[in-house]
Amino acid sequence: MSVQPSAPTASLRPAMNMHSLMKMLAEGEKITMLTAYDATFAAVADLAGIEIILVGDSLGMVCQGHNSTLPVTLEAMRYHTECVARGLQKQNGRPLVLGDMPFGSYATPEQAFRSASVLMQAGAHMVKLEGGAWLAPTVEFLVTRGIPVCGHLGLTPQSVNTLGGYRVQGRTESAAQQLMNDSLLLQNAGAQALVLEMVPAVLSGEITHALKTCATVGIGAGVDTAGQILVLHDMLGVTQGKVPKFAHNFMTESGSILGAMQAFVQAVKTKKFPINELHAW
Ligand code: KIV
Repeated sequence: MSVQPSAPTASLRPAMNMHSLMKMLAEGEKITMLTAYDATFAAVADLAGIEIILVGDSLGMVCQGHNSTLPVTLEAMRYHTECVARGLQKQNGRPLVLGDMPFGSYATPEQAFRSASVLMQAGAHMVKLEGGAWLAPTVEFLVTRGIPVCGHLGLTPQSVNTLGGYRVQGRTESAAQQLMNDSLLLQNAGAQALVLEMVPAVLSGEITHALKTCATVGIGAGVDTAGQILVLHDMLGVTQGKVPKFAHNFMTESGSILGAMQAFVQAVKTKKFPINELHAW
């Protein structure tokens, strides 16, 4: 597979920061987020124009071969965050680096601050945590201490054992109301981004509309979120085993890794991905 650039789409784009993220939200420009776990893929994602690179704990499944994200350690997240940040330094370093807080690393606000500091010192610009109302004090604790936060609601893979599997969330009226309430609580605590995973498209559209200072980024959540995220291996079509129904293989129509990432960026910006009808849960 080639990684040769087909066009330097991102060459004129300034480096992202929290201010430019909020500007994109205010102006309604779709935000692109993609996972990467090493220096090379991070640099290619930068070239392709990706705005946020998530160093996701999905690395436990796609890089380490586990069947869930639970075994991923803070040390592994630190290592991969450093690799990604180093790859961007050699490039122009335009994307924001979002470090995923692994399972068991944020049970209390104090523990969350210690864990988040490790990822920030490794090169993250923002950290992501999975959970609703119970996390609001932690989000406030981190933001007050200079750490931008991205929430993660809907299907939260670290809770796969309590959720009983990788299932769509927010289907009943009360579950939908809880997701809306949790989203507002996280925003009010200071979260500036929020991943919505496997949430019905109508509900994620309503949450996106209700939030004013927090950008929703959907995965299997329809087209009406402020941005879209995919797992790198899914969008390159190299995931072994079960591929999520909402994922799209951008390699088949692109022929190179850079081309696939550029096609993803283009499809998100023009609202051609995702197609709601294909993800009507
Ligand atoms: O770890 C990850 O890659 C994630 C995405 C699925 C949003 O959390």
